Amino acid sequence: MRSNSGAPLSMLLSREEMRHDFGGARFRLPRDRDALAWIFSQFLYGEVTGIQCGYWLHRAPDLESAQFLAQQSVEEMAHIQQFLRLLERLGAPPGPAHPAVKFLSSSFMGASFAEHTCLEMAAGEGFVLMVFYALAGTIDDAGIARVLEAAVIQEERHVAFGEHWTRNAIATNPSLARQLLGLSLVSLATIRQLAKRLPRHLPMDHEVLRQLPAFLNKTCAVAELRLQRMGVLRSGTLDDLGAFSRAALIAYGGAAHGLRALLPKGKKLTKTYLDDPLVRARSTH
Ligand SMILES: [Fe+2]
Ligand SMILES: [Fe+2]
Repeated sequence: MRSNSGAPLSMLLSREEMRHDFGGARFRLPRDRDALAWIFSQFLYGEVTGIQCGYWLHRAPDLESAQFLAQQSVEEMAHIQQFLRLLERLGAPPGPAHPAVKFLSSSFMGASFAEHTCLEMAAGEGFVLMVFYALAGTIDDAGIARVLEAAVIQEERHVAFGEHWTRNAIATNPSLARQLLGLSLVSLATIRQLAKRLPRHLPMDHEVLRQLPAFLNKTCAVAELRLQRMGVLRSGTLDDLGAFSRAALIAYGGAAHGLRALLPKGKKLTKTYLDDPLVRARSTH
């Protein structure tokens, strides 16, 4: 998917809007080896779930999305290698992934392409990007920062694709917004749960990590702004939703998600590709 001018899509939020100021606090090696190894192990799990690109490639609604996902799968595979190399550089083996990371990366997999683009690409990879920006800006190791900055360029494209696809899907079918908002509330609640459990795994008196509550608030505010710009949150703010509305939205999103997962998976991929306007336009010349 490209912009009207043919240029690659840019994200609906800028890096500056997603940046958190840690006031000069730094991660330093070798002091922070264990904390960084735990963080990189969580990323490694997330990158391995890039294999889900294959699932969505099989269900891509058009040729352009399929081409994007094919490229994305190559990039996610390269990220696996990069995180393995970063762990090697720390001299630490990959550790287990936290259950909340597993839930967000694999169990919370979309039941439709719109759920995938909204929850996994725009929101999920958006969360990852926030942490990549934060780490790249606080790590006192030029080699690690370089690897993170290279991955950032690709993750920004993944987020942009998810945002624009979701925005277009809602413009075509406005009733999607309510369901995606319900599921987004679950995703935000899981992020907050994960943050509460971090003290079990990370030293919270660390100069960067003790700023986590402010970073978490910023991450949730960024996610809310993204929901507004995609048209998922169509009026007001998340705080304006009362407890009853939140519960109803979560139940509605969950029910629609469950129902969709039970539906037949649609037309054959060959038909999708051969019917695609990109192919049809070519065959008339
Ligand atoms: Fe990645
Ligand atoms: Fe990605």
